[in-house]
Amino acid sequence: MAILEAKHLRKDYQAVNVIADLNLEVREGDFTVLVGPSGCGKSTLLRMIAGLEDITGGELLIDGRRANDLHPRERGISMVFQSYALYPHMSVHDNIGFGLKLEGKSKQDITKAVREVADTLQLTDYLDRKPSQLSGGQRQRVAIGRAIVRKPRIILFDEPLSNLDAKLRVEMRMELMKFHRNHNITTIYVTHDQVEAITMADRIAVLEKGNIRQFDTPRVLFDTPANPFVASFIGSPQMNLFDVTAQNNYVVKTAENSEIRLPDVSLALLSDAKVIGIRPEHLKLQSEATGAGLSAKVDLIENLGDESIIHLLAGEQRITARSHEPVDCQIGETVFLGFDSTRAHFFGDQQNRLSR
Ligand SMILES: Nc1ncnc2c1ncn2[C@@H]1O[C@H](COP(=O)(O)OP(=O)(O)O)[C@@H](O)[C@H]1O
Ligand SMILES: [Mg+2]
Repeated sequence: MAILEAKHLRKDYQAVNVIADLNLEVREGDFTVLVGPSGCGKSTLLRMIAGLEDITGGELLIDGRRANDLHPRERGISMVFQSYALYPHMSVHDNIGFGLKLEGKSKQDITKAVREVADTLQLTDYLDRKPSQLSGGQRQRVAIGRAIVRKPRIILFDEPLSNLDAKLRVEMRMELMKFHRNHNITTIYVTHDQVEAITMADRIAVLEKGNIRQFDTPRVLFDTPANPFVASFIGSPQMNLFDVTAQNNYVVKTAENSEIRLPDVSLALLSDAKVIGIRPEHLKLQSEATGAGLSAKVDLIENLGDESIIHLLAGEQRITARSHEPVDCQIGETVFLGFDSTRAHFFGDQQNRLSR
């Protein structure tokens, strides 16, 4: 059974609808990531789950029980915020124990609980320090400690790493993954960063404008995106997407005035396709125009050492290719970008994925 379920969830801020009809099932023990661009409703959804925001419509179930009207403290849920929101004047011990103190727990009980948590998070030697005397990683662990000291069934994170520099972010990411592996607390983690989502998640819900566009494992989202939005959101550099207008004899015309040859794709599929997607790593620079592919002009080559990112133009459309082989072409040269057509993604007029 799902530990958390959203059924037809709706959120309005006065007259503004932010979430219209959202359905989500979170499995016990999973690390679930909500990912999407800024403003799509991630924090709103998380705050509704935590009980910090009213639910306008629909139902939130925790362990199968309606939780819409439960007080945050009655939900068995803890939340870690972006800034960690540690109290600077309090010791690590008092920061972790603060929630228990508010609940009126005895000093003895608090100390016992704090020591247990500090032990599992390797914070025992730092209990007397102030947050300013800790490294970024230790501060994150204090924030987690404060969240788990009340033994929540579910822990929520709202973009906890987005304020950090790149190096620290990678370290913290690994710490969080280790923490999840060791404790197995059901986790819902919000980020706008698809790399974070892919590396950390058991399953990812991709949000756009308050709607879940796809909810599945990173592998499935990457290999078989359900629509152009997910296709372009997951993967970096992002998938090349071509709006196609018409096809004639296995040649598809794009809205940006170029032509894609697709000799081994069925005509039925080609006539249904409205958008065709190809990932940069699946495009090969060929000197001869054979098989599936399109002609494009080389605009810029970024050499990244172990790989090259080649920026090209086909008509008006920008295309990105990625190669692990040395690239042998000149700026301004027209090349043929070949691909294995089984690697191409086809979407229909409802943005739906078409199967081959
Ligand atoms: N208190 C509020 N009142 C009115 N609109 C809000 C409020 N909070 C958030 N919004 C709006 O709801 C939308 C979703 O916001 P949010 O959930 O914070 O997005 P995200 O976390 O994905 O960046 C945004 O358009 C935002 O402007
Ligand atoms: Mg947010």
